[in-house]
Amino acid sequence: MTARRALITGATGFVGSRLAYRLVHDGWDVTIVVRPGSDRLLVKDFVGRLTVYEHDGTTVSMTSLVRQTGPEVVFHLASLFLSQHRASDIEPLIRSNILFGTQLLEAMAAADVRLLVNAGTSWQHYEGRAYSPVNLYAATKQAFETILQYYLETSSLRVITLKLFDTYGPGDPRPKLFHLLRRTAESRQPLAMSPGEQLIDLVHIDDVVNAFVLAAQRLASLPAGHETYSVSSGAPLRLRDLVALYEQVTGATLPITWGGRPYRPREVMTPWHDERPLPGWSPKISLEEGIRQLR
Ligand SMILES: NC(=O)c1ccc[n+]([C@@H]2O[C@H](COP(=O)([O-])OP(=O)(O)OC[C@H]3O[C@@H](n4cnc5c(N)ncnc54)[C@H](OP(=O)(O)O)[C@@H]3O)[C@@H](O)[C@H]2O)c1
Repeated sequence: MTARRALITGATGFVGSRLAYRLVHDGWDVTIVVRPGSDRLLVKDFVGRLTVYEHDGTTVSMTSLVRQTGPEVVFHLASLFLSQHRASDIEPLIRSNILFGTQLLEAMAAADVRLLVNAGTSWQHYEGRAYSPVNLYAATKQAFETILQYYLETSSLRVITLKLFDTYGPGDPRPKLFHLLRRTAESRQPLAMSPGEQLIDLVHIDDVVNAFVLAAQRLASLPAGHETYSVSSGAPLRLRDLVALYEQVTGATLPITWGGRPYRPREVMTPWHDERPLPGWSPKISLEEGIRQLR
């Protein structure tokens, strides 16, 4: 049997690298798109088992890469995430989250590559609204989806967008919550946090990767069009309760000053809730088990 061919953008990132590993492990023929300066640390252990293509930033380079690779499915995860932006971030945000993706769509249309799994964010839905971006990053993710509509109407593209919430798992290099908690447990230095009443929706990386694989399978039998699903734990926890659970599972006592800093502007107090999880998908790894893996 011929291996299924996948093209992955954002494969040097946390989610993309785990997805690349999973597909390689499952026997897919995988090509990843990187930039000349991409940090390849997260793929270094299995980079010999896939093809790496350096994109030079141009549409010509993207078109030639998609033509050469001829992927059956494209997984588009490349993105620049910034919780808050400065004026100097505008160009990189637009380059990574809109220009790069549009080049990819143009190249897919030119090469008649039809199946795309796209990564969106729950932050496109501040306070549960149909569209309300939490920040400029979320606005650029929405802008990309708007552009996507043009290609849906003018080519035979079929797309599933997976809206992700917070993700976590062992080996996560991003300076996110659990990273901070572990550092605090080790240093015993007091940590000022917000009042901690916001609900956090955390999904383990293995469950997130399962959602991408399942979405690719589903795409194969989908008529033309765009489906959107959320990849949610379905059981968000208050930040305070999450920290208490972390203490319980790890045995650490954390010197946290609740209310020691204010909430962020447009802090997400209640994550967006969507009734449409990806058919056939549900999270399998409990928070307790996931936290235990972090030790
Ligand atoms: N993880 C989450 O909790 C979460 C939540 C909601 C949505 N998402 C979405 O899920 C996807 C994956 O997230 P992640 O956390 O794995 O991201 P990440 O760790 O920040 O990785 C981002 C990836 O995108 C690549 N990239 C950025 N700009 C690029 C450009 N202009 N050209 C080529 N590659 C570029 C990066 O490559 P370089 O090494 O070159 O920078 C890196 O491989 C993203 O689309 C993100 O918006 C994630």
